[in-house]
Amino acid sequence: MLNFKEQNAEYLAYIEQYLDKQCFCDESQPQKLLFDAMRYSLLAGGKRLRPIFVFDFCRMCGGDWKQSAPFAAAVEMIHTYSLIHDDLPCMDNDDFRRGRPTNHKVYGEATAVLAGDGLLTAAFAYLAKAPYTADIRIHAVEILSECAGELGMVGGQVLDMSSTERQCTEQEVLDIQGRKTGALIRAACMLGVLAGGGSEAQLTAAGAFADNLGLAFQIRDDMLDVIGTAEEMGKSVGTDAEKNTFVQLYGLEVCDTLVRKHTQEAILNLKQFQNTAYMESLANHLTSRTV
Ligand code: IPE
Ligand code: IPE
Ligand code: MG
Ligand code: MG
Ligand code: MG
Repeated sequence: MLNFKEQNAEYLAYIEQYLDKQCFCDESQPQKLLFDAMRYSLLAGGKRLRPIFVFDFCRMCGGDWKQSAPFAAAVEMIHTYSLIHDDLPCMDNDDFRRGRPTNHKVYGEATAVLAGDGLLTAAFAYLAKAPYTADIRIHAVEILSECAGELGMVGGQVLDMSSTERQCTEQEVLDIQGRKTGALIRAACMLGVLAGGGSEAQLTAAGAFADNLGLAFQIRDDMLDVIGTAEEMGKSVGTDAEKNTFVQLYGLEVCDTLVRKHTQEAILNLKQFQNTAYMESLANHLTSRTV
């Protein structure tokens, strides 16, 4: 049994090599510029939390987590596309991401939009060719498209953008975060259960874990926009000041309490799984993350 650090290192190394070796490296295509732009953001070394959720929920269901790499990569592609588009001048207009100039700063806006489109589309091809039964793969497509699309992340981004014009209620802020950030984390946890051959009860528990953890994660993201440093986080800070954030709603101190509370609520759902020590530690580590 690996300890937390060893397990984490193994997951990270595996997803990094998979993305590097298996994704968008066909040198024979003329649209090399597009592949370069896609890989520029995909391989810029984010925290890889969503792939780790896929891997670890698969493992906690007793599955072979390495086999779930196409599912893990698919969620990371959608997440990366969401970041490229989120940073565009027409959205959050940010210059730094994952420790590098944003995609549009390097490749221009048109290519950045298209790199996002390419990542979004390719994600579903990776689900389709994963080494699982057709039933599992179709279920995965259903979950990821619902979580990423108009009801999930894209829907949340629209609500987030239009929320700058007015003060939102607590319920509205919760709804925005649940869609723009929570939904993809939900997809990652549920895809891990599908890959691990988990039960319906485990699928439900993974969703409930993700809803609470996603909330804690975005509250911490809003806190870091105020207390974090650009050097450490590799992205601009202070840019969400006009948005309806949890910090605006509750203040930093209450936010810190809420991050811990929702994390503990997330962890309660791990009762449905085996060998949960890694995931419990990860969830707890995230409460005080500075990156
Ligand atoms: C940032 O996500 C955007 C949000 C959904 C809050 P991450 O903090 O997971 O970004 P990376 O993947 O580590 O770059
Ligand atoms: C981004 O939320 C959520 C998505 C990209 C879907 P933020 O706009 O708060 O993320 P950061 O702070 O730029 O990473
Ligand atoms: Mg945003
Ligand atoms: Mg942003
Ligand atoms: Mg933010």
